[in-house]
Amino acid sequence: MRKAQEPKRVTIVGGNGLMGRFLAGRLRHFGHEVRPFGRRDWERADVFFADADLAIVGVPIDRTREVMERLAPFLGGRVPLADITSLKAPYVRAMLELHPGPVLGLHPMFGPGVKSFLSQRVIACEGRMTDRFAWFLRLIEEDGGKVVWATPEEHDRMMTIVQAVRHFAAMALGFFMSREKVDLGKSLEFASPVYRLELDIVGRLFAQDPALYADIMLATPERREAIGGMARTCVELAEIVARGDRPGLIEKFESAQRFFGAEAARSLEESGYLIDVLSERLAGRPCPGHARRAKGKDDHGDPVE
Ligand SMILES: NC(=O)c1ccc[n+]([C@@H]2O[C@H](COP(=O)([O-])OP(=O)(O)OC[C@H]3O[C@@H](n4cnc5c(N)ncnc54)[C@H](OP(=O)(O)O)[C@@H]3O)[C@@H](O)[C@H]2O)c1
Repeated sequence: MRKAQEPKRVTIVGGNGLMGRFLAGRLRHFGHEVRPFGRRDWERADVFFADADLAIVGVPIDRTREVMERLAPFLGGRVPLADITSLKAPYVRAMLELHPGPVLGLHPMFGPGVKSFLSQRVIACEGRMTDRFAWFLRLIEEDGGKVVWATPEEHDRMMTIVQAVRHFAAMALGFFMSREKVDLGKSLEFASPVYRLELDIVGRLFAQDPALYADIMLATPERREAIGGMARTCVELAEIVARGDRPGLIEKFESAQRFFGAEAARSLEESGYLIDVLSERLAGRPCPGHARRAKGKDDHGDPVE
């Protein structure tokens, strides 16, 4: 445990949940006192909040508004209030409306599986008197995390692609595989580490809470429209495939290729590194492939996947 400069008392509503336990662990690591607050604690809520230096709301998205409403009177207009909800605009607005004291919206851009904030990003949305949260934001950065400031609206727009469409694409592939009854274990025997990595990304989704991921995908009309656009794009490409239209398919490929530009080279380099690490893990010995992979071709001149 690290000694906090000035230990704070933090009440986490949802402190026994997945993200609540993560936050509690990091706060305690830095020497702060944490009180997890759950559904059964409302009768003695005053004990949890009266002398708190910070209250954090981390409950399921569909419970967030009602919890904020119920919580606000216990904060006495004084206790700094933050939330970690994956959707920001309605909840930052709700906190500002319900609580006259300091307000900050946060969104940790990771799930509860991580061990610390190391290399993780946390989006922070200005509410009111955010200097009162400076110690907590410093803790995140001291722990190796990066705080990225955004307006709640900018955050929610960005999450359309960063979360909603991406989760939908992974879910669609996984759902298709389940329908086709793909033998996942067998498929791994026939595939390269890059397939394994892609299957890991898809499989990872199905290790999460379905309600949370449904809420993230359905959160705003903009997200639902973007997912529809993604699905229409798949249909458009599938029609080209169904026609056996090779030039048409190449034309679409090249169009996306031009869009990705230099980003494609970065992706190749970075994913190459991950494939090396995975290959080493699977083989139990170091992988010599870095130099070849950087050129994008293997020993036979074939493109590296
Ligand atoms: N999981 C992720 O990957 C992730 C990532 C980033 C952000 N988030 C956000 O973090 C928040 C929590 O997600 P989570 O996955 O940690 O959820 P979770 O594991 O389901 O935990 C939620 C907790 O909320 C508490 N709770 C529910 N209703 C309550 C009420 N009426 N009063 C008091 N406490 C109540 C429950 O406490 P008791 O069981 O003790 O009653 C439960 O432990 C969500 O807003 C989500 O958008 C999640």
